[in-house]
This record gives sequence, structure tokens and C-alpha cells, in this order.
Amino acid sequence: MGEALKAIEEQVKEGTVRYIGISNFDAELTKFALSVVRDARIVSTQMPFNLLNRKIEADILPICRENGMSVLAYYPLGHGRLVTSSGKFAEAVKKIQEDHPGKTVPQIVLNWFLSKFDNVYPIPRASNPEHVRENTGAMGWKMDEEEIKMLEQSVS
Ligand SMILES: NC(=O)c1ccc[n+]([C@@H]2O[C@H](COP(=O)([O-])OP(=O)(O)OC[C@H]3O[C@@H](n4cnc5c(N)ncnc54)[C@H](OP(=O)(O)O)[C@@H]3O)[C@@H](O)[C@H]2O)c1
Repeated sequence: MGEALKAIEEQVKEGTVRYIGISNFDAELTKFALSVVRDARIVSTQMPFNLLNRKIEADILPICRENGMSVLAYYPLGHGRLVTSSGKFAEAVKKIQEDHPGKTVPQIVLNWFLSKFDNVYPIPRASNPEHVRENTGAMGWKMDEEEIKMLEQSVS
């Protein structure tokens, strides 16, 4: 891994690669990568992250923050498990919709990343063009801290 990272770093210096991103590196490997790449920047990591799986908040996210890296959150909609709501989750969504009329469940779930963090960007997959259009509506607005907490508690 060290050799590979050094080779990519060389390509940045040569100008054939602009920035370096990593994916599925655990905390140890992320630290290792940061220690190896000295003359170029590792700008992002891509990790599984959503309201139902917040594991990276404990280890990867602080490392990213300290080192100016962004996180691209894959599985942001929990493989589609977070596009419809029921029970406590539905109640939280309904309350959030009172302040943010018209916002749908996927839009609220994707907005959670943008409202809570300044360095996390969800990368939802959608094969249906309507879903792609709908998901863009996750941007351009913010939930407040109370709404964020309510949403988190509703799925925990
Ligand atoms: N770096 C890695 O190792 C790695 C590994 C796995 C995945 N990824 C990346 O992560 C991304 C997401 O992965 P994912 O597909 O498993 O999880 P996801 O984005 O959490 O969920 C995708 C599912 O949500 C549905 N969906 C999307 N928008 C919707 C909407 N507005 N309303 C209703 N349903 C909606 C999609 O349906 P439709 O298809 O019908 O629109 C699809 O079934 C992909 O871009 C993938 O390339 C990266």
C-alpha cells in the first residue's frame, strides 16, 4: 500500500493526477496513508455511512477533520431502507416537514449529512431519473440541531 500511494503521489507531482482519494480504509490505514503521502494531498475518503450505520463518526471522521479531508458517504440511503418511513421515524419526518414543507423522506435523510457536517457529502445511487431529480432537493436548506437529534433518535 505504501508503494502504491508513493506512486500515486509521484503522479500528482507530474500533473497526471490532481488529487488523491481513498476508499474503505479503516482508521489505521487512513493514518498510514496520511503518513506516507507527504508531497500531495489526500482530499477524501469514501466510506459506508448513513443514519443506520454511523460507525465512522467515532474514528474516521475525526481523522478526516484533523487532516482537512472530506468524506463521501456511500449507502447514504441505507441501500434504499431509508427512502420510506414508519413508526418513530415517520413521526420525526412529519415534524421536520412542518418546518420544511414538501421535503420527502430521501431528501431529509440526505440533508442530514449536509446539515450536521461540513465535510461529508452523500453519494446516493439512483437508477430512476425521477429519484435523481428528487435527491437534488436534499441541497439548499438546513435542519436545525433539534431536528437533527430527533431524526437520529427516531432510528436508534
Ligand atoms: N467505495 C465503495 O467501496 C462503494 C461500495 C458500494 C457502493 N458504493 C457507491 O455508493 C453509492 C450508493 O450505494 P447503494 O446503491 O448501495 O445505496 P443507496 O444510495 O443508499 O441506495 C440506493 C437505493 O435507493 C433508491 N433510491 C435512491 N433515491 C431514491 C428516491 N429519491 N426515492 C426512492 N428510492 C430511492 C435506489 O432506487 P432506484 O435505483 O430505483 O433509483 C436504490 O435502490 C453508489 O454510487 C456506489 O457506487 C461505493
